[in-house]
Amino acid sequence: MKKQLGLLALLTLSSTAPALAGPQGLAFPQAYRSWAHAKSMVIPDPAHPLAGFHHVYVQPEVVADYRAGKVLPSGAQLVVAFYEVVEQGGTTNQGALKMVAVMKKDPGAKATGGWRYGAFDSAGKALEIDVVTGCYNCHAAQKARDYLFSTWQ
Ligand code: HEC
Repeated sequence: MKKQLGLLALLTLSSTAPALAGPQGLAFPQAYRSWAHAKSMVIPDPAHPLAGFHHVYVQPEVVADYRAGKVLPSGAQLVVAFYEVVEQGGTTNQGALKMVAVMKKDPGAKATGGWRYGAFDSAGKALEIDVVTGCYNCHAAQKARDYLFSTWQ
């Protein structure tokens, strides 16, 4: 667990979490690597809560709406995958996968702005998280954009 710093430190981890059912009932989105890649970002400072390489993926069914900046339909899913940052020989490389964070649109999830949140480790195992303090409170800053930070780049 020592390697899992940053955002993970904000979360309460549990080794007893069920393998496929994440917080708020989200399943690990097995196919996300073949979804549309929207953008990437790197936060190299290990002390930053969101440190790492980030790649944002959008489900194919909702890519057109996402690109047009429309409010996404119920069931829409987005992923941000976090990787280690490895500085080597004057290059900055993507290292090991640290975490996969998921949002799924669900108008019934009123306490979290109509989205369900989930986080999974590199093996796809659900992390036990407090979705309000660990996810929603930060995404709430983006209420005017339906809680999404990223845009198609
Ligand atoms: C400290 C603020 C913060 C916290 C806490 C946070 N996020 Fe995010 N999240 C962001 C930012 C900033 C982005 C945009 C990343 C980018 O553009 O590369 C983002 C992007 C995302 C995306 C891609 C869709 C979007 O909004 O652009 C998902 C999915 C996501 N986060 C899920 C989660 C989950 C699940 C948690 C809790 C485990 C979480 N986030 C906690 C700030 C946060």
